[in-house]
Amino acid sequence: MKLISPSLLSADFGNLQRDIEMLNASECDWLHVDVMDGLFVPNISFGQPIVKHIKKHAQKPLDVHLMIEEPGRYVQDFRDAGADILTIHYEACHHHDRVLHAIHDAGMKAGVVLNPSSPICLLEDIIQECDLVLLMSVNPGFGGQKFIENTYSKVRQLRALCDRKNPQCLIEVDGGVNLQNAPKLFEAGADVLVAGNAVFKSDDPQKTIHDMKN
Ligand code: DX5
Ligand code: ZN
Repeated sequence: MKLISPSLLSADFGNLQRDIEMLNASECDWLHVDVMDGLFVPNISFGQPIVKHIKKHAQKPLDVHLMIEEPGRYVQDFRDAGADILTIHYEACHHHDRVLHAIHDAGMKAGVVLNPSSPICLLEDIIQECDLVLLMSVNPGFGGQKFIENTYSKVRQLRALCDRKNPQCLIEVDGGVNLQNAPKLFEAGADVLVAGNAVFKSDDPQKTIHDMKN
């Protein structure tokens, strides 16, 4: 699968509706929504009220990436705000199995996120509960950072784990994705690419999305 999930963190927050409408008219598949708490990551982005406004205008599924400590506390809140897919950091959560079940029970797709320094083997006993796994290809917290090359090897390792234990599971990559590394990531086995700066800072975001997909 080749899906694109543009990250609204790089959108113009003063013109969020305009930017969401631009994405609605593009070939992108999901809208990536980065929620940061200033504790798990150094940055604070936005919370449920903003997600609710995004939902009002979005015509594609909201792919909500929670960069918050103990994300299990907020599962229902983000469902109510309009999340369709909810991903939680392995490093921020104690009870992955419980929280993934809570996300499913609330009616959303569920996924685990790994930081660049967290190995794929951590997923061995939780992969069967995941609809997707998000691999960070930068240290989470900010847009516009440099892609970490080790990600290709992690995508291949994760593909092998999915083939063995959960072939339906999608592999998503987030951070520093651009037109140069996108084809290599798809080739390594990624299904979904998140792109913030590469889309929003380009002269023609819709063409960039098209080119990234094809
Ligand atoms: C970083 C966020 C990313 C970010 C990606 O912590 O999770 O989704 O917005 O932005 P780019 O594509 O600019 O690296
Ligand atoms: Zn993200």
